[in-house]
This record gives sequence, C-alpha cells and structure tokens, in this order.
Amino acid sequence: MPDGRVPLISGNWKMNLDHFEALRNLQKLAWLLPKDVYERVDVSLHPPFTDIRTLQTSIEADRMDVLLGAQHCHHEVSGAYTGEVSPAFLAKLDVKLVICGHSERRELFGENDEIVNAKVKAILAHKMTPILCVGETLAEREAGETEAKVLGQVAAGIAGAKKDQVASMVIAYEPIWAIGTGKTATAQDAQDVCGAIRRAVAASTDASTAGSIRIQYGGSVKAGTTAELMAQPDVDGALVGGASLDPDEFAQIVKIAAGASS
Ligand code: PGA
Repeated sequence: MPDGRVPLISGNWKMNLDHFEALRNLQKLAWLLPKDVYERVDVSLHPPFTDIRTLQTSIEADRMDVLLGAQHCHHEVSGAYTGEVSPAFLAKLDVKLVICGHSERRELFGENDEIVNAKVKAILAHKMTPILCVGETLAEREAGETEAKVLGQVAAGIAGAKKDQVASMVIAYEPIWAIGTGKTATAQDAQDVCGAIRRAVAASTDASTAGSIRIQYGGSVKAGTTAELMAQPDVDGALVGGASLDPDEFAQIVKIAAGASS
C-alpha cells in the first residue's frame, strides 16, 4: 500500500441483517472505531437495500465518517424494471460506492460483462464509485487462466469510461473459490493478480490513472489475514463478506488496515 492511496475496507453484508440489526451493527462499529482511524482508512458498509435509509439517517445524525454503500443497482435510471433499484435513488440516499459484477450476481443472476459495464457507467454517471468485482473459478485457476479471465473482466468492466472516471474506481479482486469458503488466496497470489490488474489498467489508460485506482482483495478476509494482505504493494484494501457481519472482527480489520497505511 504505497503513500498516496488510502486503503478502503468495505463490508459486504449480502442478504443478511434487517434494518434493526443493521442499525445495531452500525452503532457497535461506531463505538469500536476511534474517530481518528478514518484519517488513515476509508470504510464503507454495503447493507441490503431495505437498510440503506436507516443507516443513512444514523450516519448523518451522528456525523460518522463511514461511507454508505450498496450491493447492486440497475443500469437504467427509471422504467419498467420490476424489483430493480435505480442508481439515481441510491445517489439521493447519499450512497457513495456501489458493488457491481459481484460473482454471486454474475453466477446466480446472469450478469455478464456487458451488463456489468453498463452498471459501471451508470454508477459513474451518478457520481458514485463502482466497486467492480472480478475473479476466477477454481477450475480456471487450475487451468492457468486466472489472468486471462480477470484482465478480460477488468477490460470489459471499464470499457468506455473516461480516464478520470477510471482513476476514481475501485476494483475488487475476488477469487471465486475463496468467497465464503474459508480459503484465502495467499498474500502473494493476491499481489500477483492485483499487480497484473494495475499493469493492465496502466496499459489501457496511463500510469497515473492506474496509480489512482484502488484494488481490493476479497475472499474470506479475516482480522488474522489482513496485515499480510495489506502489506502488498498493489492491495489497497479489502472487500469483506462474512467477517463484516461481526462488528468486533470488522473493526479489527479496519484498525489493522489503518495501521498498514500509516
Ligand atoms: P467472504 O465474502 O469474505 O465471506 O468470502 C467476500 C465477498 O463475497 O465480497
């Protein structure tokens, strides 16, 4: 984590915690994290849609430095898309970062690279930051196709975005075989792929753009694995699923990441 980039630790709550539980988690986190920690690390929370308004009100009232996030949105602003949520609605709720292309969305809900790219553009158009998720399956890793898969997803995801927009983005490298399985890529594996992502972004834009994007690692991140991951030059944070549901564990991860950047 070189100087100039502040790490970003994001909690992806997935389909867990109703709005009462979400509020309790937020309050516990506020109590566990000293105010000055936010000078050294950015923290975002990505609750289910039904919790967002509740968290927004609480974050605003308590002037918390936590960034509000979402897990998904549609790429159109409005229309006949039953059940979907517009990026404009999220922006109105002060959502700052939106996860897109998560492997669960790709696998379970048929989101392909084209749809993910449309979402990236829609999120950027509403002045929010996309967290573009990319990652390979175990079979792809074993076949030596990790870079081809991941770099293909990155190129497709950022296609058509302007350089300054790309510079503002977050890319989350999440090997699919490490999500929710307890298996973490080694810090060196994470660095290898995150480094390849940065070089590919530099090749398609320029070095300064590639130096500005933040690349997270995700997949069974725990407090015990954070320090080593964060010590890698191209790992700028973590997208945390399971461990983000436990405020004690998540606060530990945030504090370790804050230490890694100071
Ligand atoms: P996990 O999830 O930390 O539970 O592996 C990460 C993610 O899917 O974002």
